[in-house]
Amino acid sequence: MNTNIGIDTVNIRPGVSILSVLRHLNYKPWFAIAEFVDNSIQSYIDSRERLLQVDGDHSRLLVEIELESASSPRIVIRDNAGGIAESSYRRAFRPAEIPTDRSGLCEFGMGMKSAACWFSPRWSVRSSALGENVERLVSFEIEKIVQDNIQELTVNSIPAYDEHHYTEIILTDLYQPPQKKTVSKIKDHLTSIYRVFLRDGTLEIRFNGELLEFISPSVLTTPYYRTPEAPSIRWYKELQLDLGCGLSAHGFAALRAVGSTSEAGFALFRRNRLIQGSADEGYRPEYIFGKGNSFTYQRLFGELTLEGFEVSHTKDGFRWEENEEAFLQLLREELDREPIRLLSQAEGHRARKTADEHKSSGVDQATERTARAIEDRLPPVVEKQLQVGPELQPPPEILETTELIAKRDFDIEYNVPQKLDSALRWFPIW
Ligand SMILES: Nc1ncnc2c1ncn2[C@@H]1O[C@H](COP(=O)(O)OP(=O)(O)OP(=O)(O)O)[C@@H](O)[C@H]1O
Ligand SMILES: [Mg+2]
Repeated sequence: MNTNIGIDTVNIRPGVSILSVLRHLNYKPWFAIAEFVDNSIQSYIDSRERLLQVDGDHSRLLVEIELESASSPRIVIRDNAGGIAESSYRRAFRPAEIPTDRSGLCEFGMGMKSAACWFSPRWSVRSSALGENVERLVSFEIEKIVQDNIQELTVNSIPAYDEHHYTEIILTDLYQPPQKKTVSKIKDHLTSIYRVFLRDGTLEIRFNGELLEFISPSVLTTPYYRTPEAPSIRWYKELQLDLGCGLSAHGFAALRAVGSTSEAGFALFRRNRLIQGSADEGYRPEYIFGKGNSFTYQRLFGELTLEGFEVSHTKDGFRWEENEEAFLQLLREELDREPIRLLSQAEGHRARKTADEHKSSGVDQATERTARAIEDRLPPVVEKQLQVGPELQPPPEILETTELIAKRDFDIEYNVPQKLDSALRWFPIW
């Protein structure tokens, strides 16, 4: 194969000064991983036409994230996007070198470098761009770069097929290997952050082999609480807010069918990617949601895409400047506008138990009481019976009648048998 190697080194000036401080950025692990996913998505969008030509119309972007917790824990992020092309290669590795097109998810020229240095002291990027017959590998060893004041890194190139396209980033010797609980949060947040791309089928993310899938909460459908006899309403509305000066927001707001203290709130997007309010960190300003114990806090949710607002360079928050108050005022007005008064309904609506829930709790209580009665009262009675010995007289033909004191019918199967069974286990002869 005729290999066009092209690049031997990349210049990383002013690497030393910047790279060594990136470790102290205030990232959450999911927003750090998101930097790599952003790049994969942008690369896929930029080269979609050519990728579909090579891989077929049904091919889609796959980002695989693997967290290996062996003796030397590492994270591997691999994609099948367009790869880092020769034309962007030198820029890609130089900190703060902004891309020519900043209108997408690649904007500040820092994400990959920041996130990689935040996670680990040693990382590498292996990539082959679609249409280039070479695979390039570059490795960063931050301590060595700092100590030796290294300005250029060697690029190792090997031949590859023109039609192959991928990027693989390996973060080695993680400073803080994510523990079990954090791993589960990372999955939830990534799902939440990329819900738009996951939903429309552009993107598939696999985390340690598990396919991430976003599940939207069900929307409350019930009459307005002040007119309970009126027909049911679906508590959902689309929103369009115009703040002037090129600032606007659009999306939807709704009430959850089932309240949640952790999962309600707004998710705020920019360019289809969530910036603020992912998973259990929903955007719930007190001005709209009230205190943490309000009904609105547990019911109101929505997705809003903001236009014209800037974001922090770690893309985990909006830079509101002076505009958040105006945004919230407008939002609150719209949320409670007739005919779908979301805020009023959120506060006034009381979840009535369904007939089944009622039955279930009644049965549960009765079973509980019966089980307790058996535990308390049966042992002495049976004990006495055992001592008395067998009854030799035949039973009377007609039994004595007695007054009915109480009667209960249960027509549904709940966990009655298990509860009684465990009560009876206390009793030695069973
Ligand atoms: N997985 C990838 N596939 C293709 N190109 C990539 C990939 N990862 C990085 N790149 C290239 O490397 C460049 C640098 O990435 P980096 O994340 O450091 O900065 P950026 O994306 O340009 O800006 P931002 O700070 O907004 O992330 C990207 O602009 C892109 O050209
Ligand atoms: Mg980036």
